[in-house]
Amino acid sequence: MSVATRPVDSARARGIADAFRPARPWGNYWDYFYSRSKLGSDPLYPGVCDALRGTSAPLLDLGCGLGLLAHALAADGIALPYRGVDSDDAKIRRAKRAAARVGLDGAAFDTVDLARVIPEHRGSVAILDVLQFIPPDAQARLLDAAVAMLSPGAKLVIRTGLDDGTSRARITRAVDVFSRVLGWMNAAPRYYPDADALRARFEAAGLAYEIEPLYGNTPFNNWRVVAERR
Ligand SMILES: C[S@@+](CC[C@H](N)C(=O)[O-])C[C@H]1O[C@@H](n2cnc3c(N)ncnc32)[C@H](O)[C@@H]1O
Repeated sequence: MSVATRPVDSARARGIADAFRPARPWGNYWDYFYSRSKLGSDPLYPGVCDALRGTSAPLLDLGCGLGLLAHALAADGIALPYRGVDSDDAKIRRAKRAAARVGLDGAAFDTVDLARVIPEHRGSVAILDVLQFIPPDAQARLLDAAVAMLSPGAKLVIRTGLDDGTSRARITRAVDVFSRVLGWMNAAPRYYPDADALRARFEAAGLAYEIEPLYGNTPFNNWRVVAERR
């Protein structure tokens, strides 16, 4: 399977971002501009849509943020029951509001701290740009739980920075630290996964998997990991 290297086109990015406009013209436009620029610059969502296209199992999006994945899937015509969870209660409220605004009826959102609680689920799982914020022990528990959630035909799709000593890895960490300082992130980065450790985990679980770059034209060290039962 080849990985998308382009972000969504600018018309689609604007269309999705419209769901995040403030209710009143003088309101806060942060989420609108964040969504528009994230969608328009990062190949993340096309890469995840490519991985999930053709699947039908319900999707659990761990650390969903504003729920942009639910919007990207719908815009791509990929209809999956979707539940997003995130520890940031304010983001979850905004995610619910935006999804309701554009009639994403199959999307549900809940506040969950994944360092302490792992939701029940059976189906596909997405973990996008989240693992580095979860402490190492909890990260290992979360990955094992995500593997156990996979039903036949379902996929585990992860995007993550990897701890590989490259300048891309240093830039990724610096920007994650900066996002924490700005207050956009409610957690600082702790531990970026190691590719060999991920491979060993998937092989021990008997999964088929692929690990490929998913950074497009961004300066970050982001990789897409797709795993499924053989
Ligand atoms: C960089 S954002 C990615 C958001 C979303 N996955 C996406 O790609 O659009 C990382 C998200 O992880 C969430 N997060 C960090 N620590 C978490 C935890 N312990 N439990 C649940 N979510 C967490 C943050 O609140 C944030 O929304």
